[in-house]
Amino acid sequence: MKVLVVGASGTIGKLIIKELAPRHEIIEVGKSKGRHQVDITSEDSVRQLFQKVGKIDAIVSAAGSVHFGPLNEMTADQFKIGLHDKLLGQVNLALIGQRYLNDGGSITLTSGSLSHDPVKYGANASTVNAAIDGFIRSAAIEMERGIRINSVSPTVLKESWGVYGPYFSGTDPAPGDKVALAFRKSVEGHQTGQTYRIW
Ligand SMILES: NC(=O)c1ccc[n+]([C@@H]2O[C@H](COP(=O)([O-])OP(=O)(O)OC[C@H]3O[C@@H](n4cnc5c(N)ncnc54)[C@H](OP(=O)(O)O)[C@@H]3O)[C@@H](O)[C@H]2O)c1
Repeated sequence: MKVLVVGASGTIGKLIIKELAPRHEIIEVGKSKGRHQVDITSEDSVRQLFQKVGKIDAIVSAAGSVHFGPLNEMTADQFKIGLHDKLLGQVNLALIGQRYLNDGGSITLTSGSLSHDPVKYGANASTVNAAIDGFIRSAAIEMERGIRINSVSPTVLKESWGVYGPYFSGTDPAPGDKVALAFRKSVEGHQTGQTYRIW
């Protein structure tokens, strides 16, 4: 399969590529790195990406930022970071990308465990992750031509523990290869409307 991976240079993106590359043609996409560049927050940029790349079999997204910070100082503009970037950015990839998928293709987005297992400073991330899982659940019932859509919801990865660990006291971090397998299941399997929780 021809698999477009957005966020290819990231911690999760690299693990996904390691898992999928032995069996598939990977098109690496990033904001500044990779074979192609895209800013998922811009519909124009996403459209240009798909026009350049043409027909594909799978879209995988491991990109998107959220605002992390104390609730009593949080502003609407800070809250919008997650809405515009991680949520709408990935929704842009699905809404525009669906037209560039071959019949039977798939879309896999990334959410995260904070939807159900909140931590201090994570209100924006919890909201956005829950919204992504809600989006794929609903979009799955309308996708045409056998196209499937799922999300992968990891807890903090072992590989990212050095960065996020202090906020996740008492959490058992997820091994990156297990997270990558969930993306493989979404791309190579047959289920749709599913959230694969790695926590
Ligand atoms: N790491 C974890 O423990 C963990 C756990 C649960 C959920 N998640 C979620 O998984 C996703 C990826 O996390 P990560 O830790 O792998 O991130 P990361 O290492 O920071 O990598 C982010 C990747 O996304 C790309 N990117 C950033 N903004 C973009 C934009 N506007 N348009 C297109 N590409 C963009 C970057 O491209 P360039 O490098 O080319 O700039 C990079 O390839 C995030 O949504 C995060 O919330 C992560």
